[in-house]
Amino acid sequence: MFEIFYEKLQTLGVIPTVILNDINDTLPLADALIHAGMPSAEITFRTSIAADVISNMIKNFPNMEVGAGTILNIGQAKQAIDAGAKYIVSPGYNSGIIAYCTSHNIPIIPGALTASEIMNAEDMGIFVTKFFPAKQFGGLSTIQSLRGPFSLHRFLPTGGINLNNLAEYLSDEAVIACGGTWMVKPSAFCDGDFSEVYELASKTMKVVRSTINVPQGQSQPI
Ligand code: 3PG
Repeated sequence: MFEIFYEKLQTLGVIPTVILNDINDTLPLADALIHAGMPSAEITFRTSIAADVISNMIKNFPNMEVGAGTILNIGQAKQAIDAGAKYIVSPGYNSGIIAYCTSHNIPIIPGALTASEIMNAEDMGIFVTKFFPAKQFGGLSTIQSLRGPFSLHRFLPTGGINLNNLAEYLSDEAVIACGGTWMVKPSAFCDGDFSEVYELASKTMKVVRSTINVPQGQSQPI
């Protein structure tokens, strides 16, 4: 299930975890990310404008991999899918959200931190889960231990990932991609200047390219 999406995810290497408070930031943020070679965004439902941000971003940048994050219930999943989200990310394991997304053919990455949660996800046909908060739950070393019994499973770690440890995470086969806020912190563009986002995202993609060997042209500006 969702193999095409998983391939895209691996090619992207990094998904920025976006928290937007102002709808007017949507397009300049997307523009900065795209020009840095990072054509993706997980728009979190931590602010009330998330669905509007998703529809606005997709309308203006249809090729961008725009998904919804921090989806906590089926109602939010519905709102995100109606807005055009191409994938859904949830911090935890909720079988209702998984069933809703799969029945709509929308890739879902649920959170799973324990062997039991991974078993439940795999039972529902989901072999890629979010590992959050990665740093607090033992980071790469926990992921490697979980990979023992779950040899087909792959992880999207988020929480505590940054330019200093990204390469280490991405070099591990168990990691399909990484997520995080380090290049899109709201404080970086509170003055309306998105150059810091561009610079941090560019540096990030340099690490991605040197670590996962992205085929030429694939993670380039749209
Ligand atoms: C998430 O929602 O995945 C995390 O809050 C991102 O964590 P970070 O801010 O440490 O990158």
